[in-house]
Amino acid sequence: MNNLPMDTFVSLCKRRGFVFQSSEIYGGIGGFWDYGPLGVELKNNIKRAWWKTVVQERDDMVGIDSAIVMNPRTWVASGHVETFADPMVDCRSCKRRFRADELIASHHEPESVHGHPVDVAGLRCPECGGELTEPRMFNLMFKTYVGPVEDDASVAYLRPETAQGIFVNFENVLNTTRKKLPFGIAQIGKSFRNEITPGNFIFRDREFEQMEIEYFVMPGADEECHERWIEDRMSWWLGLGVRRDKLHIREHDKEELSHYAKRTVDIEYEFPFAGFAEVEGIANRTDFDLRRHEEFAGRTLRYFDEASGQQIIPYVIEPSMGVDRCFLTLLIDSYVEEEVRGEKRTVLRLKPELAPIKVAVLPLSRNERLVPTARRVAGLLRPRFMVQYDDAQSIGRRYRRQDEIGTPFGVTVDFDTLDDDAVTIRDRDTMEQVRVPIANLVQTLREKLDES
Ligand code: GAP
Repeated sequence: MNNLPMDTFVSLCKRRGFVFQSSEIYGGIGGFWDYGPLGVELKNNIKRAWWKTVVQERDDMVGIDSAIVMNPRTWVASGHVETFADPMVDCRSCKRRFRADELIASHHEPESVHGHPVDVAGLRCPECGGELTEPRMFNLMFKTYVGPVEDDASVAYLRPETAQGIFVNFENVLNTTRKKLPFGIAQIGKSFRNEITPGNFIFRDREFEQMEIEYFVMPGADEECHERWIEDRMSWWLGLGVRRDKLHIREHDKEELSHYAKRTVDIEYEFPFAGFAEVEGIANRTDFDLRRHEEFAGRTLRYFDEASGQQIIPYVIEPSMGVDRCFLTLLIDSYVEEEVRGEKRTVLRLKPELAPIKVAVLPLSRNERLVPTARRVAGLLRPRFMVQYDDAQSIGRRYRRQDEIGTPFGVTVDFDTLDDDAVTIRDRDTMEQVRVPIANLVQTLREKLDES
């Protein structure tokens, strides 16, 4: 994307029906977003693409879908009750709240520490210059109560990561699938974090969706496996068409590592508003989680290794990413403004696999002789592709509208169609047009969509 300012980009997303502010008619609510008619399609396509690569096409992976609310002891065992916190400071004058580690990072001091007290002495409020309070740790988990009584015994949490749903099901999956190490479990689902400073549109939300893999390996095979996953995940991003020069890999410093991680590598994308920032983390979680759940649940969560005849606790490699952040990355990365014959054209160069609408059916005009044929063509395509029928305004405008939402192909029904029963297919990227008999249309579009 060229350097579109963030608010222009947000309004584009709204205007096109990708993303709306949650409960906007009441003034919205910070860190929560709704996905519109095109947004939900793109989001589903992202999830489908991920699932296909990491579950469908692999023999060593299975999926699950676990509950958002879990027994709260899960979060004691995982360490989240104790350590899933960010240092928070308040401005004594304007009362705004900030993450102390972010304030320090913005002053270019390297010792920004996620989850640990930091020294903010000397720093002032970035909004009004006022004095800041001492930092205090703020737990990011949303609390709720299960059942009719609101007391300590009924406290539960909305999960801050989907990962724990996988760990607590390790034994169930092992017993039901009889998988041998190494194997992995994938899950897509909502996570919730009461972020102190949500922001940058859908980059940091309080409700978001994660796609996570917990990949179980023999201890000792973990480091090599970690390397393989880093390569695989990078290839996935590139395979979606994301520009190579906008992606890079960053190794976490020791102080930055989560409480469970031995090593973490982030895949980062260069966002126009934030510079390079994490889109996916690939962590070596060791045997931390299974061991802790053994301890807290009083159950053995082990794998019988036939070679050594021993019960072992596997190590875990965890590629973890956010759907919303991926969505933002793809929209930004595919956004192109170009000049065609002296006119500005905006195109979302999304891979057809990701495009919300695959084919637009466009009668040349609303002429009553064209409409029945155009409707028939749309009806023919609908069971196979996501189709949009559009007959409002000039054909040129309609092409531009479809370019703007990334529709790979437009099918135009014109007066010649009434004689030759053929239509024109227009390619979003090359703008080339080819004439195809309606009888071959489904097959031709299928081939074109597969090729691109
Ligand atoms: N289970 C490991 C884990 O949750 P994380 O680095 O905290 O690790 C993984 O999160 C991914 O989830 C991030 O790379 C990001 O894409 C996404 N994510 C995390 N917090 C988010 C937030 N507040 N809003 C949107 N996405 C978020």
